[in-house]
Amino acid sequence: MNIKILFLIVLSILPVMSQAETVDELQADMARIQANPEALKSAVQMGEDRAILCFSCHGKDGNSKRDYIPNLASQNATYLFNQFENFATGKRTDYVMSKLAKQLTGPERVAIALYFADRPVKEREEPVAMSPKGKQLYESVCFACHGPSAHGDHQYPRIAGQPYTYLEATLMKFLKKDPERAKSPMVAVVQNMTEEQLKDVASYLTHMP
Ligand code: HEC
Ligand code: HEC
Repeated sequence: MNIKILFLIVLSILPVMSQAETVDELQADMARIQANPEALKSAVQMGEDRAILCFSCHGKDGNSKRDYIPNLASQNATYLFNQFENFATGKRTDYVMSKLAKQLTGPERVAIALYFADRPVKEREEPVAMSPKGKQLYESVCFACHGPSAHGDHQYPRIAGQPYTYLEATLMKFLKKDPERAKSPMVAVVQNMTEEQLKDVASYLTHMP
């Protein structure tokens, strides 16, 4: 990108981004940017520039390149931002992500989260059929937090349309209290469920638009 244009973009979002440092301040900045269409446009543009490091795995448009990697497209921005924070502080761990999260500045994390949140999710081929049992389980156990269409909201992640492999692996980590995600509130949610039920619900979610 032309350096002058980049400079103008940075200037245009500086007043909204201020000199935020703490997580609370950054989250407040993100909310302010989301409420201002012009600032949002600039932040999404900046996010696209800063997200180059992510494209090889998560895809340029946030639709992941591998079945074990989550989509970031249409994920809610607060969740994306909070997960960087979790990787950076060690609350959640992953070999690559834990290192990467520490390298991004606060405003970069905000802009990248806004960029991916703005991308649409694409349908992908999945190795499993939609499970009617999974639908029942979703509607009785998961619905209350993740919402009727599994798109989540500012508090809960979108789980619709994630690759089956990622969903299954993640649910098993919650069930087995894997240290990588043992601090997630999901650990308590799945403890009374069986592996088979979790696979059914993953087979349902992966086919949700
Ligand atoms: C080498 C591959 C790789 C690269 C590069 C990479 N990621 Fe990831 N990312 C992963 C994997 C694998 C996971 C899933 C980790 C797990 O299972 O908990 C992940 C998870 C995430 C999550 C959590 C998503 C969720 O649904 O909970 C976020 C957010 C994320 N990455 C953002 C980024 C950003 C932003 C970048 C670029 C700065 C990036 N990643 C670069 C492989 C990568
Ligand atoms: C009490 C609220 C609540 C309920 C009920 C709930 N979830 Fe969650 N879920 C959350 C929260 C909060 C997170 C994000 C927390 C984290 O891991 O950091 C989450 C995360 C997840 C993730 C990880 C998303 C990602 O991108 O890595 C999956 C998968 C998931 N939930 C599936 C389910 C399924 C399937 C059910 C029903 C069996 C369910 N959830 C029920 C609150 C809930």
